[in-house]
Amino acid sequence: MQTSKSELRQATDPTSGNSFALGFKSLDHEVSVPQLPVQGKFPPWLTGTLLRVAPCKYDLGRQTVNHWFDGLAMLHKFSFAQGYVSYANRFLHSDAFQEATKTGGFTMRGFATDPCGTLFQRVLSKFTTRWTDNSNVNVSYFARQAVALTETRMPVRFDPDTLETLGHAPILPDVKGVVTIAHPHYDRDRDCLYSYLLDFGMKSRYRLFSIDNTSGAQKVVAELKIDRPAYMHSFGMSSRYLVLVEFPLVVHPLSFIFRCQPFIRNYRWRPERGLRFHVFEKEGGRRVKTVEAESVFAFHHVNAYEKGDELIVDFVAHHDAGIIDQLYLARLRAGEPIDPGGRPMRYRIPLGASSHVRREVLSDTRMELPRIDYGRTAGRCYRTVWGAGTHRPGNFIDSIVKVNVENGQTLKWWEEDAYPGEPVFVADPNSQNEDTGVLVSVVLDARRNRSFLLVLDATSLVEVARAECPHPIPFGFHGNYYPAAANECRLPGTGAPG
Ligand code: CO
Repeated sequence: MQTSKSELRQATDPTSGNSFALGFKSLDHEVSVPQLPVQGKFPPWLTGTLLRVAPCKYDLGRQTVNHWFDGLAMLHKFSFAQGYVSYANRFLHSDAFQEATKTGGFTMRGFATDPCGTLFQRVLSKFTTRWTDNSNVNVSYFARQAVALTETRMPVRFDPDTLETLGHAPILPDVKGVVTIAHPHYDRDRDCLYSYLLDFGMKSRYRLFSIDNTSGAQKVVAELKIDRPAYMHSFGMSSRYLVLVEFPLVVHPLSFIFRCQPFIRNYRWRPERGLRFHVFEKEGGRRVKTVEAESVFAFHHVNAYEKGDELIVDFVAHHDAGIIDQLYLARLRAGEPIDPGGRPMRYRIPLGASSHVRREVLSDTRMELPRIDYGRTAGRCYRTVWGAGTHRPGNFIDSIVKVNVENGQTLKWWEEDAYPGEPVFVADPNSQNEDTGVLVSVVLDARRNRSFLLVLDATSLVEVARAECPHPIPFGFHGNYYPAAANECRLPGTGAPG
């Protein structure tokens, strides 16, 4: 682990407060800036676009949303060309946004926020409330169409040049189900995306599906009946398999009808269930294995690959699902201490007769929002994961970390009162080496009351350049880099699910 001078200063400074609350202030300011002021020099090959989406409006007028995950989505675009970078941001005009703008409140069922009203009105509305299309989690391309994603089946299409909202791109419109994820995988060999849809009911089902990247055709690949569906924010993909890992945060499907609670509050933590790994073949959809392990919770898979007679599944594990409760808006805005990081863990799933799962801690480094060199290593043996880390205990994510998953070695970038978002890896097209390239990350500089786009050397985490934004950008989740001008961004998969 590297220790910088500023790190030592921070560790001995008892006056450091939690200035991260600034990252949860609504941003209403929409701009288009042709050229941001730059310190340092971007690599000449960096000529693409970083597209991100983030919750940026929390205060709707007569209602403030309850949770970070419910802020209304805003798109952000950074386009690099000839050593310069432009910046634009624009609200995603989802139905949820339009209605919130008109009514001053939340009109759809969100993650931890429901339409406001009396208890009686809310009970009545259980039967009619629509699931939100506030797609604030990630961006992707469905058959060459840019989409913003959340965990419901109505992704929102947008123009990657103008950031104008274009309508919906429904998932599996002829199949039942409401909940999906914002972390599809791109399979380069098959040129398709994979994801899953959850159908709640007396007999709930997970349905893994694919989207053909050329035709846009969607089809169900595999199906699994389930009694108590789990909250799964992402899943694993190796070259042959798709892996659903059920964390023991589960829901009784009827709870949505009979309990008057926002989405996630219907889920219960049942550690006695442990973890359940369901392994499906991509070809044919056969379930080849279900095995169990000790309970943990995770949002984000890192990578998965086959090695001999084992399937390796890596994700960022938290001890339990308490992290969700730590991300309620009132807590965050109060700057209360928080522990947002998990640890990268490895699970070895036997593909033969055994059902014994082996578990390893890849590093004790606290991290979240993991990224890999997706274009070169997704579904394959890999060496490096980058993520947003927690350097100072109790702080929000305040550093960028790089972990070597083979030997646990860790590097860190950190600066006082700076709060980086997810570091997105951009491969140097002139190299074949796994971690050769840069990381791009939107960093909130609480001291200067604005954000900057940080570019780090991905191997050493040494700063290459930074470009100053005209305002502070609220904390977001995910985005992707597309190695061409925005109007030529038609290839998915060089970016990745976060
Ligand atoms: Co995520």
